[in-house]
Amino acid sequence: MAKVIVLTNQKGGVGKTTSSAALVAGLQKCGNQVLAIDLDPQGNLGFSLGVNIEDGHTIYEVLKGEIAPGDAIRHTEDYGDIITSNILLSEAELFLKGEDRKLRLKKALETLKHRYDYIIIDTPPALNILTVNAYSAADELIIPMAAEILSLVGLVQLKETIQAVKESINPRLHVLGILMTKFFKSTTLSKDVLDMASSVAGQIGTIVFETKIRNSVRVAEAPAHGMSIFDYSPTSNPAHDYRVFVAETVERMGA
Ligand SMILES: Nc1ncnc2c1ncn2[C@@H]1O[C@H](COP(=O)(O)OP(=O)(O)OP(=O)(O)O)[C@@H](O)[C@H]1O
Ligand SMILES: [Mg+2]
Repeated sequence: MAKVIVLTNQKGGVGKTTSSAALVAGLQKCGNQVLAIDLDPQGNLGFSLGVNIEDGHTIYEVLKGEIAPGDAIRHTEDYGDIITSNILLSEAELFLKGEDRKLRLKKALETLKHRYDYIIIDTPPALNILTVNAYSAADELIIPMAAEILSLVGLVQLKETIQAVKESINPRLHVLGILMTKFFKSTTLSKDVLDMASSVAGQIGTIVFETKIRNSVRVAEAPAHGMSIFDYSPTSNPAHDYRVFVAETVERMGA
């Protein structure tokens, strides 16, 4: 039965998609059956994993109830299965109606969970009905956070949303940790943000991952080639860091 991991932070550009892609590729390389789900209307995860996102069925049709979840799955050569996204998903607040509006994704995944070891969900930079659907379906949340100024803005809101979902729809929801990205080991700024992240982690009742993902232009180059960082630049700092992060994730989930 698959464990569902959701990468979330309503702040944009903090490494949600990059970390989702690395987790998908890394878990797959360790021999797991992995399903990636792109819940961001921008469609970056599918693109990053080399899928042509211009055609094929998407999560939009699944959430609308137009097709069976299994029919939206695309098979990739190197990165397992994926359900891609569509820009129409940005109208979710309008088309997700009815009492089960927060539970559509969870219900869709129930029919797929037995096929996989992990389901990894990338989310948009927002706290909206899509994120709530993701939290409702999740076992674990991972909060990527860039080691840059203003990165912590909005974390109180994030904390409140997590709490609200826990109290209403998904009492089992657990925050696995905060993942520092774009990290420079030597700068005071990175250290300051790390200190603040530790304090936020304490308030949310979680930890900051031991592994920090170092900054490298290699990370930005990989998606254009439709390759994970492990394949695009296996010896780069972030490839090393993401390998350790995948191991830390598996270990912490087993703990
Ligand atoms: N470790 C890193 N080093 C250098 N650049 C990075 C690193 N991680 C991410 N980036 C770059 O930062 C940008 C934002 O990353 P990414 O798309 O993963 O963030 P996101 O949180 O998914 O953004 P959005 O909120 O728009 O979906 C991208 O251009 C990406 O290549
Ligand atoms: Mg993204």
